[in-house]
Amino acid sequence: MIHDPNKVYIFDTTLRDGEQVPGCQLDTNQKIEIAKSLELLGVDVIEAGFPVSSPGDFNSVIELSKAVTNPIICALTRANKNDIDVAADALRYAKRPRIHTGIGSSDFHIKHKFNSTREEILERAVEAVRYSKKFVEDVEFYAEDAGRADIEFLAKMVEAVIAAGATVVNIPDTNGYCLPDQYGSKILYLKENVKNIDKAIISVHCHNDLGLATANSIAGLQNGARQVECTINGIGERAGNTSMEEVVMILKTHKVLGLNTQIDATRFYEMSHMVRNQMNMPVQPNKAIVGGNAFSHSSGIHQDGFLKNRENYEIIKPEDVGFPDATIVLTARSGRHALKHHLERLGHQLEKEHLDIVYKQFLVLADSKQGINDTDLNQLVALHLA
Ligand code: KIV
Ligand code: ZN
Repeated sequence: MIHDPNKVYIFDTTLRDGEQVPGCQLDTNQKIEIAKSLELLGVDVIEAGFPVSSPGDFNSVIELSKAVTNPIICALTRANKNDIDVAADALRYAKRPRIHTGIGSSDFHIKHKFNSTREEILERAVEAVRYSKKFVEDVEFYAEDAGRADIEFLAKMVEAVIAAGATVVNIPDTNGYCLPDQYGSKILYLKENVKNIDKAIISVHCHNDLGLATANSIAGLQNGARQVECTINGIGERAGNTSMEEVVMILKTHKVLGLNTQIDATRFYEMSHMVRNQMNMPVQPNKAIVGGNAFSHSSGIHQDGFLKNRENYEIIKPEDVGFPDATIVLTARSGRHALKHHLERLGHQLEKEHLDIVYKQFLVLADSKQGINDTDLNQLVALHLA
């Protein structure tokens, strides 16, 4: 396979890792609606589900495979023949099917989850990839808990699964444990020490237990990974997965990284709303890129600077991510400049001395209530002019 060395493949797992969150379960029709929007957004891979886990998931993978044509459709399995048989069956209508199989790679998982040994686990990993290759050409292998795995063993495992035919090797920080430089160094070690590493794409899959999922994913990309596994709004197990909108906008904002995606970022705001509504999962107002306050300016110093030149306090234009517009929120911390801006928007042009008086009355009102609206402003002006 020939890859553009600067292209980052976006692997969306909203419908698999994201949907595992309690209360976020979707029916097949909802999944199809989200998958079609993900296709329009431009994702490269949609992880449609874990077919062996339930008849509903199995059916969703079948229906998504029929409904969506451009992205690769991926199905998760554990490293056993039955899971792989069921996944291959569920993927039978996919134009570009991928099986995502794998097993634990840390000594902790090997001992306490599999009650096994490194040698046995290695054999099972290789066997799972070989078996998956009987059904599909595109096989992604995940080394679960790679964030805590011994790096030499991890390298051995990655080398063995590539030799068995894995096209993508996923290095999950399953527990969100790593620091960005640790995770980045792991990826670099694999890049530099695994034989034939260039035959596969290295994928990053980070969890947000310490709030580092996005930072770790970027560190992985900076060190040679070229696929990022992520979800819309960063939803996912526990504290969530890497948020797609954050990674994509970091790559767009920091062009110096030289990496690009084929995502149409102007669809993020709409996509975020669709996922929050369908999954019943609110987004915190201060969430980067898509949170309700992501483009609202509320302190006087910021508002004044923003009104002089938006770029004083805006590194991303709201329209670049489909956000309606930036807002200047009037609070008791706002200055005259922000008040003048809103009064002018409402058609009130006040001389400086009048503005000063209205501003004093505005501060008294703003101290007594949360948020000043247009009715309040019109009343303040009317009272002053009366
Ligand atoms: O976090 C993880 O390790 C996973 C794997 C199943 C890919 O979600
Ligand atoms: Zn995960």
